[in-house]
Amino acid sequence: MKLFTTIFYLIIFLSSLLSYYLFKKEKKRHKQTSKLPPGSMGWPCIGETLQMYSQDPNIFFASKQKRYGDIFKTRILGYPCVMLASPEAARYVLVTQPHLFKPTYPKSKENLIGPSALFFHQGNYHARMRKLVQTSFSPEASRRLITDIEKIAVSRLESWSNGQVINTFVEMKKFAFEVGILSIFGQLENKYTEELKENYCVLEKGYNCFPTKLPGTAYHKALMARRRLNRILAEIIQERKEKKLLESNLLGQLLKFKDEKGNMLSEEQIADNIIGVLFAAQDTTASVLTWILKYLNDDPKLLDLVKAEQKAICESENGEKSGLTWSKTRQMRLTHRIILETLRKASIISFTFREATVDVEYEGYLIPKGWKVMPLFRNIHHNPEFFNEPGNFDPFRFENPPKPNTYMPFGNGIHACPGNELAKLEMLVLLHHMLTKYRWEVVGSANLVQYSPFPIPEHGLRARFKKEI
Ligand code: HEM
Repeated sequence: MKLFTTIFYLIIFLSSLLSYYLFKKEKKRHKQTSKLPPGSMGWPCIGETLQMYSQDPNIFFASKQKRYGDIFKTRILGYPCVMLASPEAARYVLVTQPHLFKPTYPKSKENLIGPSALFFHQGNYHARMRKLVQTSFSPEASRRLITDIEKIAVSRLESWSNGQVINTFVEMKKFAFEVGILSIFGQLENKYTEELKENYCVLEKGYNCFPTKLPGTAYHKALMARRRLNRILAEIIQERKEKKLLESNLLGQLLKFKDEKGNMLSEEQIADNIIGVLFAAQDTTASVLTWILKYLNDDPKLLDLVKAEQKAICESENGEKSGLTWSKTRQMRLTHRIILETLRKASIISFTFREATVDVEYEGYLIPKGWKVMPLFRNIHHNPEFFNEPGNFDPFRFENPPKPNTYMPFGNGIHACPGNELAKLEMLVLLHHMLTKYRWEVVGSANLVQYSPFPIPEHGLRARFKKEI
């Protein structure tokens, strides 16, 4: 009996010891895994917003990465954020675990673009809209637009060559807008293009302003312009439906769409996605084109080489007379590498935003639910481990492909840019005509960077164009 009691107490004692050990171990593991990334949260509420906006944001991010490593925390615009500066971490958020992180934009911006635009969404609705957008901007669809893109490029270049100093960025925006309209609507009556342009200009002026609905403010004017855009789009949609013009452009795809229950898209969903695409397509392409001019202007030898490449295309069989073709654009190897290097060096989309939808543990750090998560594309593109001498403009580095997941000018994963082929194509077309028929000189200083909010050379790069005889 005594032996039985002793064994009983021994078992109790040993199992308590084991439980205590396991409890301590679990507590230690939880403690280890649930620590927040290093970094500083700055002042209450505003966090480090002032530091980020009062200095070059790139210096802000780079100095943080140097101090804390590839994963660090901060607080921007009142939101706690985790910044990710390694290709693996960016891939984790954007590609392998995108369901843990949702796209996130301020409500005020969502209201201007339209809440049904695909980039605000996740899941089924996003996948459906994305398929339509991808089909409309696929290489096959884009190549059918070459001749019309050429017409736009030729006419825009012509308008610059009257000896006036132009703001390159503003002019490139006009080019990108017209190509955007072409790819969304196909041929569109001039009156509609002008009405869309006029109202879109008011809309974008309010986009980065303080979002107050007080009449007279830029934000309020933008909201009013957004309503007018809805009316113009409704008229175009009505006309296309009546004339049964359901082509393969984006509007045609949106009008033809039916889900598995036979439901079609509402006019509001169509309008939001059209404005969303215009928004995604214009300033991005325009600022990359502006940087290309700046980098070529800074490197006369490279400019001669790329002019020679483009002239050779003109002189090739049926060169200029028959117009550009898809296969001719595939011969523009150096021009293409210049575009790739500009996308890397200028990294006009320095980072993107997501929000953790649950508590996430990554590399031993806790990313709490509700925190913003920012993959830092620019830091990755400027890391010497992946791009030798990253500060140099060297298009020849793209003779070899970059290491996987280190080059993301168009993002990565389920929200990666569906317009990337169209963007590259329109840049190639414009550059072809510009490099074979025009000379330009930069007027005044262009060494500082201005944020619009994308980075562009100061004053939008003022330049004077001349037609070469
Ligand atoms: C050089 C020009 C461009 C650059 C650098 C660029 C870059 C990007 C990036 C980085 C994203 C992903 C953002 C994120 O993950 O949060 C994106 C998304 C998007 N881009 Fe572009 N883009 C360009 C031109 C265009 C053009 C020309 C179009 C349309 C014709 C377009 C349409 C879109 C759309 C609709 C999305 C949202 C996709 C989604 O959420 O599924 N972009 N772009």
